[in-house]
Amino acid sequence: MTIPNTNRPVIHKGLNGVVVDSTSISDVDPTITSLTYRGYPVQELATECSFEEVAYLLWNGELPDPGELSLFSQRERTSRSIDPRLQDLIFSMPENCHPMDVLRTAVSWLGARDQNHDVHQSGLSLLAKLPTVVAYDLRRRRGADVIAPSRDRGVASNFLYMCFGDGPESPATNFYDVEAFDRSLTLYAEHSFNASTFTARVISSTLSDVYSAITGAVGALKGPLHGGANEAVMEAMLEIGDPDRAADWVRAQVDAGNKIMGFGHRVYRTGDSRVPTMEESMRRIAASHGGETWVQMYDAMAEAMEERTGILPNLDFPAGPLYHMLGIDIPFFTPIFVLARTVGWTAHIAEQYADNSLIRPLSNYVGPGRREINPQAAA
Ligand code: COA
Repeated sequence: MTIPNTNRPVIHKGLNGVVVDSTSISDVDPTITSLTYRGYPVQELATECSFEEVAYLLWNGELPDPGELSLFSQRERTSRSIDPRLQDLIFSMPENCHPMDVLRTAVSWLGARDQNHDVHQSGLSLLAKLPTVVAYDLRRRRGADVIAPSRDRGVASNFLYMCFGDGPESPATNFYDVEAFDRSLTLYAEHSFNASTFTARVISSTLSDVYSAITGAVGALKGPLHGGANEAVMEAMLEIGDPDRAADWVRAQVDAGNKIMGFGHRVYRTGDSRVPTMEESMRRIAASHGGETWVQMYDAMAEAMEERTGILPNLDFPAGPLYHMLGIDIPFFTPIFVLARTVGWTAHIAEQYADNSLIRPLSNYVGPGRREINPQAAA
């Protein structure tokens, strides 16, 4: 008879199901497929409020009144320019590195420059400057001159303007394109204790500074199992090419034991609460951009995946084709996620500092038993 070892620790691989702390920022309730920011359903915020209002809400706990919004926007808009030395740094980065590497380096540089380290001031500065960093990098890789930020546009419109100018073909001049992009920022802004947010909280829990926490969070978001999935979705769609081939492709991938990016979620099991709003925007943009192929691809892949595995799309699945149809280069999809999620990260860093406890879990050692380098000497 084997006597059970009652001292063996219970291992929560991937911290799956572990509640590590309380938060008042957002609530994911998978039982009713719900995500709320400070109590408001995310789909209502995405359609009723601008991304700036949502950022204010996440940082301050309440939606701004018109005076508060005006002051907040003014502070954000006047902080958008970047130091010429940072611009030089962006231009000195290897052309074949991922734009997330440029962004991670830029956050770190901004942290070295800003020794103030007040969480909310730093968050606002990053919210204002990171779109400029990303747009400059996109223009650099296209061999085009940079377009300086405008103070007359909201965050979404300004970003598209810095990427594509304000010609008649630019999404910055199309109301529905700007609206779809703005909604995507709100949907990406916050999602409780996901991997990158938890990374930011771990770093903050050592009482390190906000820029270090966000630099680490950018690194965590880069991974294909997290933020990088939106890029992989579009790459897969382009590889498949023809919607008629989508179902066979999905089945072959599943049968080969490969994961299909843009599907599945650690917390949601009956669907991602953000998908319907992003999907609606994606369908609308497809209708106005001649992107029916991507809608057909989207439907064919989702149907085949559900039929074969029962696994449903996550937010990255509609985000991939949406950004592609707006004309954004694929490697910039995850940096856009950063622009939005910087808001959630900053809210969590402030919450961590306010009631801090060093995050330091335990491990179950399974290596060799105790031994000596020189057993003779020990004897
Ligand atoms: N494609 C194919 N199979 C998938 C899958 C996907 N996207 N997501 C989960 N599965 C399968 C796993 O292979 C596993 O099958 P098994 O039990 O037969 O081994 C089962 O579903 C459970 O998956 P697991 O990876 O253990 O669940 P998780 O909670 O750890 O994973 C994700 C959550 C997000 C990491 C996972 O769904 C995934 O890798 N998705 C693709 C990446 C992605 O889109 N990330 C963005 C998340 S917002």
